[in-house]
Amino acid sequence: MATHKKLQRWVDEMEALCQPESVYWCDGSQAEYDRLCSEMVKAGMATALNPEKKPGSFLFRSHPSDVARVEDRTFIAAKNREDAGPTNHWMDPAELKGKMTELYRGCMKGRVMYVIPFSMGPIGSPIAKIGVEISDSPYVVVNMRIMTRIGTRVLETLGTEGEFVPCLHSVGAPLQDGQKDSPWPCTPLIEHKYISHFPEERTIWSFGSGYGGNALLGKKCFALRIASVQARDEGWLAEHMLILGITPPKGEKKYIAAAFPSACGKTNLAMMVPTLPGWKVECVGDDIAWMKFGGDGRLYAINPEAGFFGVAPGTSLQSNPNAMHTVEKNAIFTNVVLTEDNDVWWEGIGYEPPAGKKIDWTGNPWEQSSGKNGAHPNARFTAPATQCPAIDPAWEDPRGVPISAFLVGGRRPTTIPLVHEAFSWNHGVFLGSIVGSETTSANIGAVGLVRRDPFAMLPFCGYHMGDYLAHWLSIGAGSAADKLPKFFYVNWFRKSDDGKWLWPGYGDNSRVLKWIYERVSGTGSAQETPIGYLPTPDAIDLSGLSLDAANLEELLRVDAKEWLHELEGIRRHYESFGAKLPAELGNEASALESRLKHSLSY
Ligand code: GTP
Ligand code: SPV
Ligand code: MN
Repeated sequence: MATHKKLQRWVDEMEALCQPESVYWCDGSQAEYDRLCSEMVKAGMATALNPEKKPGSFLFRSHPSDVARVEDRTFIAAKNREDAGPTNHWMDPAELKGKMTELYRGCMKGRVMYVIPFSMGPIGSPIAKIGVEISDSPYVVVNMRIMTRIGTRVLETLGTEGEFVPCLHSVGAPLQDGQKDSPWPCTPLIEHKYISHFPEERTIWSFGSGYGGNALLGKKCFALRIASVQARDEGWLAEHMLILGITPPKGEKKYIAAAFPSACGKTNLAMMVPTLPGWKVECVGDDIAWMKFGGDGRLYAINPEAGFFGVAPGTSLQSNPNAMHTVEKNAIFTNVVLTEDNDVWWEGIGYEPPAGKKIDWTGNPWEQSSGKNGAHPNARFTAPATQCPAIDPAWEDPRGVPISAFLVGGRRPTTIPLVHEAFSWNHGVFLGSIVGSETTSANIGAVGLVRRDPFAMLPFCGYHMGDYLAHWLSIGAGSAADKLPKFFYVNWFRKSDDGKWLWPGYGDNSRVLKWIYERVSGTGSAQETPIGYLPTPDAIDLSGLSLDAANLEELLRVDAKEWLHELEGIRRHYESFGAKLPAELGNEASALESRLKHSLSY
């Protein structure tokens, strides 16, 4: 293969800086994957699971300091602070590179430096993009092989001149001569961890963590933070959205993309099994959508990923059977319970922990009677998308799938109804901009506070959130309204006064999807309210569901006083954007206010 000079030069420079024992270019083969896994088992970093229960699967336990994304150590190092905006941590790029260069110096001593060429999106798709991750973690290599397309075929596509995003990663734990490695190497010092993005250079530097979005740099770092900047510059969208296809008993399939904040139900909705007879939901992606306009003026979405990195706790045959089948084999589990017969268990898996010895996520003997969690709440599974029984036949279509509706939502115990539809594109962007999730007694801090998370992108937008919202508005302004997706705000999480879910959720969310399907098809009855179109009381199909009439009324209730209170929070949220708040959104807030006040004057 002819060499890509720029890539070769970068790899040489990083080798000189990080001083690994050797450099290894990943070919992406099954043999390579198998070899790395068995080396990690031998080194005590991984446990091979029971081949009769979970063939081809492995368990890892992370260091207790390294269990989730570290938002406090995530930086958007734009040249001007203003370009990172008020919602991102910023550092001067030269200063940050100086600090990190010192950390990287010699950081891979005693380790192999893996070079992982990867494609986000089907190789060769006009929407796909290539990255190259350099990492000293074999755990990262095997996860990247599931989550993205890696190896020689990517290098071939890159050719000698192709563009790629350089992604440098080190766990930050060099080995001295003869030093024994730990099961999960990472730097223990939080102030040495950096997840850094250089948006002007389209470059990512990550140091100190081996977990999830901190280390699998194709996912949040590239496919959202860097890609959101590329999308702004090139006129497309890179979003924290699932993509699903929905087919009625008789009629054509339509595709929906939905933005919910982390741990608010994307994987569950993307793989749901509808309770409505004859309806089918198929999964294109569960976390990220890249969308571009097609020649017909419609928005087409691809899933840039190739696997699922899903939350394990709460996943059961009852809540998400498709996810359970997806992880039956060839899966990687991180931070779940190991049972005596070398199988895995987690809270909410749907059955009691089996008898016999069990090891919790910290590596210690564990019994449920201790009252402690056996699995970490952010324990995850990694599994290939192809193993999902509900994978959509078009999930790898290089052209993407046409989107008919955007859903936004979060956890809101009060105020927000089960579903409402925007009046227009700009009103839809307004709904996306006000998305929030409420803190509960399970969170630290005051109960009932809303953390605003526009389009679920708060931790993932690579530039100023005000400019990001302006970009959404400009996408609408440049297109014919009848070609554009319609916006819906959904809330599966409204609660009664005594704190119980009003809505069953999960597969029963198909009832709401049915109404949305009907609305984008030009049927489906709706009533106009000050906040948007709501279903008429009989428009949601409740057949076969025993739901109190009072519950349904509460789920669809729009309380003008509560919404005026909500508006105060929205205005405070908007103030943080200063002059960067698009005027259209200020106007939407004012129009909502006058509609609410008008409704109260009757
Ligand atoms: P990330 O991978 O962090 O981006 O999360 P996600 O948005 O994919 O969330 P996921 O589907 O993993 O769900 C997170 C939690 O929400 C789980 O505990 C689910 O059981 C719960 N959940 C999902 N859907 C529903 C629903 O319809 N109703 C209720 N009450 N809970 C739900
Ligand atoms: C999220 O936090 O939204 C995730 C998990 O999807 S991670 O890949 O770690 O970002
Ligand atoms: Mn996510």
